[in-house]
Amino acid sequence: MCGIVGYVGHRRAVGVVIDGLERLEYRGYDSAGIAVGHVADGAPARIEIVKRAGKLEVLKIALEGRMLEGTIGLGHTRWATHGEPSDINAHPHLSEDGQLAVIHNGIIENYGELKERLSAAGHVFLSETDTEVMVHLIEEHYRGDLAAAVREALAQVTGSYALAVARADHEVIVVARATSPMVIGLGEGENFVASDVPALLAYTRRVIFLHDGDMALVGSDGVTLTDLHGAPLARDISEIDWDAESAEKDGYPHYMLKEIFEQPAVVYNTLGGRLVGETDVNLDLALDPHSIDRAIVTAAGTAFYAGLVGEYLIEKLARLPVEVEIASEFRYRDPVVDERTLCIVVSQSGETIDSLEALREARGRGARSLAILNVKGSSISREVDDILYLQAGPEIGVASSKAYLGMLVAFELLALWLGRARGTLGDDGAREIVRALRSVPRLIEDTLTHRPCIAEVAETFKDKDHYLFLGRGINFPTALEGALKLKEISYIHAEAYAAGEMKHGPIALIDDDMPVVAVATQGELYLKTLSNLREVRARNGILIALAHPGDDMVGAHADVVIPVPETHELVSPLVNVVALQLLAYETANRLGLDVDRPRNLAKSVTVE
Ligand code: G6P
Repeated sequence: MCGIVGYVGHRRAVGVVIDGLERLEYRGYDSAGIAVGHVADGAPARIEIVKRAGKLEVLKIALEGRMLEGTIGLGHTRWATHGEPSDINAHPHLSEDGQLAVIHNGIIENYGELKERLSAAGHVFLSETDTEVMVHLIEEHYRGDLAAAVREALAQVTGSYALAVARADHEVIVVARATSPMVIGLGEGENFVASDVPALLAYTRRVIFLHDGDMALVGSDGVTLTDLHGAPLARDISEIDWDAESAEKDGYPHYMLKEIFEQPAVVYNTLGGRLVGETDVNLDLALDPHSIDRAIVTAAGTAFYAGLVGEYLIEKLARLPVEVEIASEFRYRDPVVDERTLCIVVSQSGETIDSLEALREARGRGARSLAILNVKGSSISREVDDILYLQAGPEIGVASSKAYLGMLVAFELLALWLGRARGTLGDDGAREIVRALRSVPRLIEDTLTHRPCIAEVAETFKDKDHYLFLGRGINFPTALEGALKLKEISYIHAEAYAAGEMKHGPIALIDDDMPVVAVATQGELYLKTLSNLREVRARNGILIALAHPGDDMVGAHADVVIPVPETHELVSPLVNVVALQLLAYETANRLGLDVDRPRNLAKSVTVE
């Protein structure tokens, strides 16, 4: 949610900053801007700003032919919260004398009262943003020491921020963090600032993750860390094991397609080294499985749907009661949680504010905690007792795909581990699931070969206004995730229902104009699903079924069958969802939409 980048060193800052913004555009893309400090006689003399409403491309066109030579730069890609996307509201925001530039991710909650006071004192505001109050506050407190002015300004502010500030007469960038993520990249004679690691990978893999309440003075020759009162701080330097190529498109037209095709490797890597022999799992967790009576899974978006699969798996294999809660609901509803509750928070980014706050809520009530995360060093990773990392690599497409697969694998492993430890899962049962998990990469490869058939379905139905998705049992979340993907990137209205619930309302919608996608892979509820398919047919519904090759019973009812390979039912969501990801991708692509940057969305939602 808003991406920020900063550079100070020996290169032309504009190149580094634009490069970083390209890699952070998934965080927001309704406007973008840069500020470059110009060096004259060895000292920055002025700050030049270029900012534009629209995607980064628009800013790049505006920069063509501009000679921005400076070696200090700030850049921002915005996801609007206060004020519409416009040139004026885009960041950076500049002080009236043109000396001070500020970029910000987060929300200054008391900006209204601050703006009123500052306006009364003669400050002239140009934008409708909350961020602009920071420019005026810092200006008000500036007496030659930029860090001190930022500190004094922040003392008056409530809210969340990842903030970067530059002044024409300083050769440093001052940064501060509260809630919104920020990482410093360490180079040789140059240093970097960014919201997220992918912006830095082309330059360095040595990083410092700032904590809440941290400030830093970032110069070309060093970084000084302090708290918000100016007291020195020490933070560990982390080495990132992602490489720069993993954040590239690699010949694919979109990140999302590349990430869908990376899923066999994600499953393989996330399983990697954690399966022990034919029946066991080693997860390196501090958690004592006998110390808990129940689990609460909390998450947002796609991660929430992964949690629903997790509920099914853990209850089935470990007989541990599980509830799954949308993080933004859980955090405010005075939940019943105690020290025998395990709170499992699931998040690709580890930065989703509601998920972080839900975790804090549960821990505050004494719960044990475990996070299923993709991004190392993220905010959630610092506040949780145990972590199960996905090995998905950077996910850039805004609509999540490979991270979902990684989350499902993590839940499979966790459920197996809990089931074995609690004595509810015998050798034979464990062996079957382990065997099925090991074959998932191959089965996903197989599903991916059906892309042409799925593309044909997308072509046929791309102009429909509504879709219904049906699934049952462990594949009900598959239907939910399939509908979410279609909504997110193709803007087609899609709803998902548990197939057995269809009669209780959605059946009224069925006619010969609305495709119904049914996950009809064989399993415990196969016959019941078949009767749901008959009910759709009987009402002239258009039926698209996900079914195993050669399943004539489903074939007899469906208009189109998308073949998905057979596997253990408890593992089937990992295979089935891939077909629905492709359906959403192919539909959006045929509609000529921006698959990687769907309108209004942001990849990690760090504001409420
Ligand atoms: C946003 C993204 C979704 C994502 C959700 C949770 O809404 O657009 O794709 O599933 O946040 O993100 P997280 O990083 O916590 O998994």
